[in-house]
Amino acid sequence: MNFPERFANLPEYAFPRLRRLLDAHPPGGEVIQMTIGEPRHAFPPWIAQTIADHAADFGKYPPNEGTPELRQAMCDWVARRYGVSLDPETQIMALNGTREGLFNAAIALCPEAKRGKVPVILTPNPFYQVYAVAALTVGAEPVYVPARAETGFLPDYGSVPAEILDRTAIAYLCSPANPQGSVASRDYWADLIALADRHDFQIFADECYSEIWRDAPPPGALEMAKAMGADPERVVIFHSLSKRSNLAGLRAGFMAGGPKSIAAAKQLRAYAGAPVPLPLQRAAETVWADEAHVEENRGLYQRKYRIADEVFAGIQGARSPDAGFFLWLPVDDGEAAALKLWRETGVRVLPGAYLSRDVNGDNPGKGYIRVAMVAEEQEMQRGLEAIRDCLMR
Ligand SMILES: Cc1ncc(COP(=O)(O)O)c(C=O)c1O
Repeated sequence: MNFPERFANLPEYAFPRLRRLLDAHPPGGEVIQMTIGEPRHAFPPWIAQTIADHAADFGKYPPNEGTPELRQAMCDWVARRYGVSLDPETQIMALNGTREGLFNAAIALCPEAKRGKVPVILTPNPFYQVYAVAALTVGAEPVYVPARAETGFLPDYGSVPAEILDRTAIAYLCSPANPQGSVASRDYWADLIALADRHDFQIFADECYSEIWRDAPPPGALEMAKAMGADPERVVIFHSLSKRSNLAGLRAGFMAGGPKSIAAAKQLRAYAGAPVPLPLQRAAETVWADEAHVEENRGLYQRKYRIADEVFAGIQGARSPDAGFFLWLPVDDGEAAALKLWRETGVRVLPGAYLSRDVNGDNPGKGYIRVAMVAEEQEMQRGLEAIRDCLMR
C-alpha cells in the first residue's frame, strides 16, 4: 500500500516528543505542568445552562457557516474591538476553533500555482505547527522565516528574497505570537500589508491571543487593512474563544475577511467541513457578546505577568511577554534544559525547538524553552522559581 510522501518528513508532534524525552525519568519534585497552552481560569458560568437550554438542537444538522445570530454576535465583537464593520452574510464564518480554520483556509484559498510556479506559504519560525501542515497539504513550499530577538520576535518578511515573495500566496502571522508573546505594532502590520500588496499575497492573521495583553490591546490586521484602504481580500483574521474565554473545549472561533475569501471557505466547508453543533453555536453567541469575563480573565494574566517580572528580575533575556500567556526563555539548549528541569524539579516545559524548524542547520527555537503561565498563581510561581533556580542562575 502506498501512503503520501508529502507528510513523510514531518517531525513528531511536540507533545508525544516531549513525553518521549521526559517520561523515561522520574520527576525531581512536585509535578508542575507548564507545557501546554490550555487555559485553566474559569470559563463563563452560564455556558452549561445555555447548552442545556438548546440541547434539543443536537438533533439537527448545524448550519455550516454559523447561525445568523452567531455571525451577528461575532461581527458585533469585531466592530467593538477593532472598529471594523463586517457584513455577517458575506464576511465571516464560524469555525471549530482557529486551528481547523487556519488549515482549511489554505486549502480553500491557496492557488495551485503563483506566476506559473509552485506557490510559497510563509510562516514565522518558531510557529504554531498547523501552518506548515497546511502548506504541505496544498502542495505549497513552506518558507520558514526566523522570528528572533533581533527582529522583535516577529518574522521580517520584508527580508525574504523578491523571487520568493513573488511566488508567495499566503503569509501566516501570529500576533500576539505563540511562543514569544510579541505583538505586531501598527507599523509592522502596515509594512506587511504593503509588502503583500506589492507581491500580491494574502495574510492569514492568527489573532487567537488578542485579548490577553499587558498594557494595551494589540492592533488587529483587519483594522490596519481598513485604515490603509487595502484590498478587502488582502487579510483574513482568525479568532477563537479558546483563550479569550477559557473555552478551548467548546471549539468555537471564526474567520473573517473579504467576501471572495469567505465564499471560497464556505464552499469548501459545505462539502467537507464539520460545523460546530448548534447548542454550542448558541453558547458561543452569548460568550462573544460578553466582555466582563474577558476583562476579569485578562486581569488574572496581568497578575501573572507581574509575578514573572518579579521572579525573573535582573535575569538577562528573561522577558515577560507583551501579550499571551507564554514565556519564551533563553537557555543553552532547550531540550537539555527541559530534561534537567524535569529530573531536578518536576517542572515540565517545552523545548523551543519542538516549535521550530531547522533551516540550513540553524534552528531559531533551539536555545529556548516555552513556559505556559496557565496554572493557578501559587503553583505557577513555584514553577517559575524552580526554572530560575535550576536553569538561569
Ligand atoms: C498560535 C495558535 N493558533 C491557533 C491555536 C488554536 O486554537 P483553537 O483552535 O483552540 O482556537 C492555538 C492553540 O494553542 C495557538 O497557540
